[in-house]
Amino acid sequence: MMKAYLSEIGGEVDRFLAQCLKRDGVPDILLQAMEYSLLAGGKRLRPALCLVWAEMAGESRKHVLPAAAALECIHTYSLVHDDLPAMDDDDLRRGKPSNHKQFGEAMAILAGDALLTEAFGLLFSCTVSAERILSAGQELVRAAGASGMVGGQVLDMEWTGLDAVQVQDLSRMQELKTGALIRASCVCGAVLGGAGANDVERAEAYGVHMGRAFQITDDILDVTGDEDVLGKPVGSDVNMGKVTYPALLGLDASRRLARDHTDQALASLQPYDNHHAHFLRELAEYILIRSA
Ligand code: IPE
Ligand code: IPE
Ligand code: MG
Ligand code: MG
Ligand code: MG
Repeated sequence: MMKAYLSEIGGEVDRFLAQCLKRDGVPDILLQAMEYSLLAGGKRLRPALCLVWAEMAGESRKHVLPAAAALECIHTYSLVHDDLPAMDDDDLRRGKPSNHKQFGEAMAILAGDALLTEAFGLLFSCTVSAERILSAGQELVRAAGASGMVGGQVLDMEWTGLDAVQVQDLSRMQELKTGALIRASCVCGAVLGGAGANDVERAEAYGVHMGRAFQITDDILDVTGDEDVLGKPVGSDVNMGKVTYPALLGLDASRRLARDHTDQALASLQPYDNHHAHFLRELAEYILIRSA
């Protein structure tokens, strides 16, 4: 059921993404570079979280689809920049040469900049009240910017190669670099869907723990994964001297911690008994056992 629902939502998101970027006056090469990464597949986890939390609040997906696409644009820009030689220096992403391998570093930087900017245009075009859009926008700015993902990427870079980093610092870094956008995907969905304060809080709690479990599993897959399935290099963290859970705690303790966060994500869904909540439960389990 989860796979079918996820591929239904993923298909809807993919179709929307394929036509959502503005073309008028955009240099061809820039549009190509943006769509090269945006339309290269990917699990579409963040859009799915946004859409399902909006549906939980009683809103129909079509009104919130542009916000789901906005989250994917921000996520994709973060991947394009994350792969640059100045950052993780990875040559493979979503099963294809990384953006800068295909288009050069300058274009990869600019395509990322443009995807980030387009995201806010998309959010503004949601067909829900201006009040909901404003409040989701404030959440998204906090999550994506200096106090969220970008701040987390800074800590990731500053601590690369250091061996004195503590688990609580690693936890804070991951909460920012990955957790903030996953949390915001849930919260923006709930807010755009018109959820009340209690439901927004539950969306937030679910998103926080999903984000934690997701990045711990990402760290594990860098050790145990298969490059052909992952679509990105395996062993990249070890090669770069990244601070990760397997490096600090070992694989078994990392797996236990990811399980613990999944259980906490599940606990936040306790009040709900509908098929959307059922999907969110299955998604929380899938995050742990995924191979890509
Ligand atoms: C990879 O994210 C980067 C992290 C934040 C760990 P995903 O694993 O969601 O990548 P795609 O979207 O499926 O390619
Ligand atoms: C990425 O973390 C977090 C981002 C904001 C992109 P990673 O550097 O571990 O992501 P991957 O493994 O390259 O996808
Ligand atoms: Mg990185
Ligand atoms: Mg990386
Ligand atoms: Mg990784």
